Amino acid sequence: MDILEKLKNDFKNDYEKLLTNPDNLEEIKNKYLSRKGLIPTAMSKIRDIEPEKRRDFGQGCNALKEEVTKKLGDLENKIKKEEKLKKLKEESFDINLPSDNLVLGNNHPLAIIVDMIKEYFKKEGYEINEGPEIESDYFNFEMMNIPKNHPARAMQDSFYFDENLLLRTHTSPVQARVMQERKGRPIKLICPGKVYRKDEEDATHSHQFMQVEGLVLGSGINFLSLKNTLLNFLKHLFGSKTKIRLRPSYFPFTEPSIEVDMTYEKDGKEKYIEILGAGMVHPNVLKMSGYNPKKIKGFAFGIGIERIAMLYYGINDIRYFYQNDIRFLDQFKEHIR
Ligand code: FA5
Repeated sequence: MDILEKLKNDFKNDYEKLLTNPDNLEEIKNKYLSRKGLIPTAMSKIRDIEPEKRRDFGQGCNALKEEVTKKLGDLENKIKKEEKLKKLKEESFDINLPSDNLVLGNNHPLAIIVDMIKEYFKKEGYEINEGPEIESDYFNFEMMNIPKNHPARAMQDSFYFDENLLLRTHTSPVQARVMQERKGRPIKLICPGKVYRKDEEDATHSHQFMQVEGLVLGSGINFLSLKNTLLNFLKHLFGSKTKIRLRPSYFPFTEPSIEVDMTYEKDGKEKYIEILGAGMVHPNVLKMSGYNPKKIKGFAFGIGIERIAMLYYGINDIRYFYQNDIRFLDQFKEHIR
């Protein structure tokens, strides 16, 4: 019997044995296919074969190698599948057993407040928009009428990626983004979102906080519309007795500008706390984003969401919102929606 025939017979025997005892699969694979295995060794002896038989011998060896590889590979896959099935069967479980206690999470208090704000303004006909948190200097400052080196930039120091890219310091850049998109048409929108500033942390300041921006542009919009909008919104959240106080202020992107305080009760006394900045949109801001200030006017506001949440829930330190303390967060469970 020539070498090839012998190899074929040997493999046939080994393979049959493997079918009843697959434990030797790896060993048999090595025996025939490894670098020094029987098939490569036989192939390396091609020079010892008479020249006219070399071609058939070579082809025979290759065919055998292919057959062996396929058969052993198929067997390996079959074994793996069987093992998996066996494991699945062993792992069957009793569906009647009681489950582990499921801990149900709840919405974060800030998310609850944002939802309330969105719901209110949606009913008032506002659209909701969100801009990017990583913002360009162009939208965050330039289009808000705060050119490079303007002192107002110092009030909103931020975290910069490079000189043109920063974590937005307020939600106001969304105003310019939307204005440029709408090309002179009226706008009525709010944009809630996270903002960042290099502020010192204390009970009422955080380096990361949330704002909701409001922008209303159209004909016939005046300062009274702004005051009523804010008062109605705050009454809706805090009750009809809520009062607001408007203080003259300065923002480069509004003229006139105001800071708005609202009443809250502390130790039985009525007090005021600042919750937002607002004003009539500055003509420069309108012009830069393609609006004609002679035809279209409007107002804008930026509300601090944490401050609203603190008043709403009676929380006395802004840092609780960001500490992820389960004892704090668990208290808002009844607000799951
Ligand atoms: C602004 O950010 C303006 N963009 C608001 C605005 C919009 C004015 C549109 C006019 C027109 P200001 O820096 O005052 O303004 O911030 C607005 C509100 O964000 C504040 O009233 C306060 O409630 C909240 N806020 C500001 N800084 C912090 C801080 N470090 N931590 C928590 N809340 C803050």
